[in-house]
Amino acid sequence: MPSTTHVLKGLEGVYVLESSISMIDTEQGALYYAGYDVRDLVERSNFEETIFILLNQRLPTRKEYLEFTSLLRESLELQPLHIETIKHYVSRTDILSLLSLLMVLEGGGKKGGDPAEKRSGIDAVAKMASFYSAILRIRSGGEYVPPRGDLNFAENMLYMIDGEVRNADFARVLDDLLIIHAEHGIPASTFASLVAASTLSDLYSSIAAGILALKGPLHGGAAEASYAQAMEIGNPERVRAWLESALSEKRKIMGFGHRVYKMYDPRATIVKKIITGIENYMDSDVKRLYEITVALDAYGQEYLAPRGIYPNLDLWTPILYRTIGLPPDSFTALFAVSRSAGWASHILEYWMDNKLIRPLHLYKGQYPKKYIPLELR
Ligand code: ACO
Repeated sequence: MPSTTHVLKGLEGVYVLESSISMIDTEQGALYYAGYDVRDLVERSNFEETIFILLNQRLPTRKEYLEFTSLLRESLELQPLHIETIKHYVSRTDILSLLSLLMVLEGGGKKGGDPAEKRSGIDAVAKMASFYSAILRIRSGGEYVPPRGDLNFAENMLYMIDGEVRNADFARVLDDLLIIHAEHGIPASTFASLVAASTLSDLYSSIAAGILALKGPLHGGAAEASYAQAMEIGNPERVRAWLESALSEKRKIMGFGHRVYKMYDPRATIVKKIITGIENYMDSDVKRLYEITVALDAYGQEYLAPRGIYPNLDLWTPILYRTIGLPPDSFTALFAVSRSAGWASHILEYWMDNKLIRPLHLYKGQYPKKYIPLELR
């Protein structure tokens, strides 16, 4: 082994590619999608346009925007086989597993490797959204509700879940959540989807790889874990004692820490601002969750900020998810719906100059070893 060879655990600090899709400004605490500040997109744009920006790295013209939104709406439509598959598996597995299965089935027989496959990218994001909505709808005993031509993406998602048009403020919150989660460089899930795509697997299966890597509590599963943590804490008065005991047991505090941000996650700041606009919709349970989160945010920083560990967006998003009535076991799946826009964009960008991702390992075992036949052992 050459003496200079060393392993970079967790690929920490390693640049694996060049990309024009997003930029994380860790000095100023800002996030840009193809150069556009996410704060502006949340305030002035919507998820449909965000998908276009990520896929094309520019703003659409008005004509392109109309064509794009109509393609998205078309792709939200599900077929009888999708519904049958959802009905068959919905009570047998978790939402993310079912989402990934549906995406793998969608990719069946398709080829990967074509960077011009934007239509598939649009279709994949829309399918993720309608799969998610139909899963929630069917799981709660309802029948599939097809999307409506007069509703936007977030409105359609809620309509397909509830079977009726709900509060416009809730659709706006969902739209904001979809924008905020859409892209974030090369976290584990995006890397997993690129590893699959680099083998020229199809786009849908590569997205399924991203879904599966998003599942764990260290990444996309953190919002569900942070919600469970708040439920475990129970009330705001217990936060400090709970925190001290958790830290003394070397437990990780969910909703804190980030591989890239060594500062307050700017996405959490956006989420907090959205929360202030919907406080009047919070029921008593969400209010308690809010108070626990406020206390956890403050005390957690007292203990962890000196080590460069700050709140991330998953500390705060459960408040929004619960306010608009989404079940706790669907938080990560909703994250996956949104992030599929980032995964699809990265996959198509990577295919413009594809190279198989194939790192190395350092063998630490002995060799050669003498094989002993089974009868002699
Ligand atoms: N609570 C307590 N201690 C922490 C936390 C935390 N949330 N995060 C990091 N640390 C400590 C670790 O225990 C470790 O301490 P040590 O050096 O004494 O062993 C040190 O900080 C470094 O931690 P690592 O996990 O090695 O650092 P890494 O860069 O891999 O961590 C991660 C990033 C995985 C996100 C981590 O902060 C974590 O587990 N956070 C909790 C889960 C979470 O909220 N994930 C969401 C991230 S945002 C997203 O994916 C959308």
